[in-house]
Amino acid sequence: MQQTIRHIAVVGAGTMGSGIAQTAAMAGYTVSMLDISPVQLDRGLATIKKSLAKLRDKGRLAESEEVVLSRIKPDHDLGPVEKADLVIEAATENLEIKLKLFRELDERTRPEVILASNTSSISLTKLGAATRRPDKVVGLHFFNPVPLMSLVEVVKGLGTGNGTINIAVAVAEKMGKTPVVVNDAPGFISNRILCPMINEAIFALEEGIAPRESIDTIMRLGMNHPMGPLTLADLVGLDVVLAVMEVLHRDLGDDKYRPAPLLRRMVDAGYLGRKTGRGFYEYDQKS
Ligand code: 3HC
Repeated sequence: MQQTIRHIAVVGAGTMGSGIAQTAAMAGYTVSMLDISPVQLDRGLATIKKSLAKLRDKGRLAESEEVVLSRIKPDHDLGPVEKADLVIEAATENLEIKLKLFRELDERTRPEVILASNTSSISLTKLGAATRRPDKVVGLHFFNPVPLMSLVEVVKGLGTGNGTINIAVAVAEKMGKTPVVVNDAPGFISNRILCPMINEAIFALEEGIAPRESIDTIMRLGMNHPMGPLTLADLVGLDVVLAVMEVLHRDLGDDKYRPAPLLRRMVDAGYLGRKTGRGFYEYDQKS
């Protein structure tokens, strides 16, 4: 019998975590949005309020903002996972942090609870193996900006059970998304293709083949991409792009995935894109 999911705990209130929390609340789920940093929780809630206001102005919100917001309970402690029916982890893209978190989630949640990760590139098989329930560990990979993007890549680790996949697919559909199931592999399908394209654009910039605006315009007008690769890198976060390229390079062992040196330097400098106000472009305010 398929278990009923009513209460979702989202771990991490950054760009992706807050977007997932908002989308889940809009779908009627009770949501615990958890982050150890109170500052990040406040920022996440502010992002959600801004997004809900935009959706309301466009007539794309079925209920009032207050009703959606009332379903989201922020907390700086992991405690609420003990009552959750599903956990979606959206913490920093770092293997050690995620392994530690999955061990703790395994301890603190009921044994039948599915532990999902929004990781961009980390192996779901590895995260599953850190728990006593690898059959209940799955990737639920959302796309930025979460409230607007239709896709959820559902990632099946080596040990993930079919029942878990069915529930993950049903939850994604209830959130109004189109789920696509793929097997666990470095970068899955989305980032195996997207991040090397962005990385190549960075190499082209570094080699002085064309300025940033020209590279982006070529991909927008020539390929009909909604935004150019450098603008998109700023949206996704340069630290995330670098983390994905490092996983592809290491795990696939092919130098064609070598991160562009300029990408590495920009991450070292803290130029991470929109979230820090500077990436390949400059932004007025942190968003
Ligand atoms: N909530 C609500 N509204 C939002 C929003 C949000 N989170 N983010 C943006 N909007 C609004 C904008 O403010 C804008 O409102 P306005 O019309 O009042 O100004 C509206 O949505 C439309 O935005 P734009 O006018 O910029 O028009 P676009 O048609 O370009 O839509 C977009 C924006 C959907 C972001 C589009 O540019 C797009 O699809 N870009 C590509 C995004 C993409 O590829 N995302 C995937 C990244 S990869 C990833 O996340 C995976 C990871 O693992 C790396």
